Amino acid sequence: MKALVTGGAGFIGSHLTERLINDGNKVLVIDDLSTGKMINIEHLKDNPAFSFRKGSILDVDFLRKAITECDVIFHLAAAVGVRNIMDNRLKSILTNVRGTDLVLELACEKKQKVLIASSSEVYGKNETLPYCEDSDSVFGPTTTHRWSYAAAKAVDEFLGHAYYQERKLPVVIARFFNTCGERQSGQYGMVLPTFVKAALKNETVVVYDDGEQSRVFTDVSDAIDAIMLLMENQDAIGNVFNIGGQEEVTINELAKRIIRITGSASTTRHVPYDEIFKNGFEDMRRRAPDISKIRKLTGWKPKVSLDGLIEKVMHHFKHQFENQKSN
Ligand SMILES: NC(=O)c1ccc[n+]([C@@H]2O[C@H](COP(=O)([O-])OP(=O)(O)OC[C@H]3O[C@@H](n4cnc5c(N)ncnc54)[C@H](O)[C@@H]3O)[C@@H](O)[C@H]2O)c1
Repeated sequence: MKALVTGGAGFIGSHLTERLINDGNKVLVIDDLSTGKMINIEHLKDNPAFSFRKGSILDVDFLRKAITECDVIFHLAAAVGVRNIMDNRLKSILTNVRGTDLVLELACEKKQKVLIASSSEVYGKNETLPYCEDSDSVFGPTTTHRWSYAAAKAVDEFLGHAYYQERKLPVVIARFFNTCGERQSGQYGMVLPTFVKAALKNETVVVYDDGEQSRVFTDVSDAIDAIMLLMENQDAIGNVFNIGGQEEVTINELAKRIIRITGSASTTRHVPYDEIFKNGFEDMRRRAPDISKIRKLTGWKPKVSLDGLIEKVMHHFKHQFENQKSN
């Protein structure tokens, strides 16, 4: 099988590419390298099962050629990260809405199965937890730009359902909850890698707001297991699934654990959202998934604990810092 991974030079995409190749598949990665990096896929470049083309999913001819060559599509390319979304407003919306529409439309020509990478952001600020797949999406006003990512991912899901129902395109939708691990940069506002990096450098760990907001973190290897199981299962088609960890933790507790596990001398400092993001910012207090739907269909459940995940990210950055020193 030849798989197309859009956004394959990114964090999750590079891990998925690795897994697909290890499982005996060929993979074509397309990526515009906006947040992805060649270094994420450098180790694959001499593998005959791997190929890479730099370009955008918004370039129709480029995308059509890539889609035509492949048997299955993992659509991960997106504008991600709170900072990136806030700083590149129009580009983010177009990438996340028009890009997904193009992938689905072009896939209709050969009817390849498509996985759409969606997000727990689609639940917005719904306060009824844990979130199951048919929980409400509750967004803030359109004047608060942070909601554009959530709304765009929700439109992607609507598009996925519509293409499945009206054009018979086999679509599977995965909603990732804060997925972390090796190669995630922390450059665009992802909390766990940002804290680990700060802790390893004994710098102040900056916690937004009062830090009592809580999240669930997922190890990327668990997320990849989940995607692979879903894409093998015919009954997943036309459906949406939460993919998330099991341990809900406040950001204060996360900071504490990271400081303990890294043996850091860092302290924490709380900063209001307004100081970081101008023009208003809103965030949800809690976010936690109900993962019974995917578990019932595939038997999947996450294997890596939060402490295990922190340790993996810590080793990744230690290694990276050592390499930087020796270069
Ligand atoms: N990491 C998470 O916690 C998380 C949570 C929810 C959803 N997701 C979704 O998973 C997917 C992968 O996210 P990630 O965390 O690996 O982020 P990432 O930034 O590492 O990966 C996204 C990739 O898409 C590429 N890209 C962006 N615009 C493109 C374009 N126009 N054409 C081609 N490539 C383009 C980027 O260069 C990058 O390599 C995204 O769709 C994201 O919305 C991730």
